Amino acid sequence: MPNTTMLPKWRFSSLGMGILALCGVLMLPTQAAAEEGAAREPAEVYRQVCAHCHALDKAVGPEITRAFPEAAHESWRAYIETTVRHGRAAMPSFRPAKISDAELEALSAALARGDLAEGDGGEE
Ligand code: HEC
Repeated sequence: MPNTTMLPKWRFSSLGMGILALCGVLMLPTQAAAEEGAAREPAEVYRQVCAHCHALDKAVGPEITRAFPEAAHESWRAYIETTVRHGRAAMPSFRPAKISDAELEALSAALARGDLAEGDGGEE
């Protein structure tokens, strides 16, 4: 008996791939534009975007301003950046339009160093 099994002929057409690639290229300038605006200081970003949940007196989110030992900065910063970009349980995610990559890097560094710690100094 002859083998009548047919393999589907459909594949991504090169036109389709071309359109996908074009969409990618067209989206780049928008992304870049969001990053160009004047970068805010880490303390400003924290106050505007994070503090209303994370400030000690709000306590919606856990304290994130504690200084970390230098050996742990890299992993703590990566964790902060992932959490901000992807969200975590009740915490929403924030896109580059809201916090640019440069601002997020500066913020995670400042948080890891403890620059924004509010605990021991008494009132903020
Ligand atoms: C709408 C409230 C809200 C805002 C705004 C918010 N967070 Fe959160 N965040 C939370 C909550 C709630 C959690 C705890 C999530 C969980 O249950 O794991 C959290 C958890 C985190 C964690 C994990 C802490 C840990 O000990 O595991 C980090 C890091 C974090 N947030 C950073 C930030 C940063 C940085 C910002 C500002 C850019 C921010 N968050 C803005 C609510 C918020």
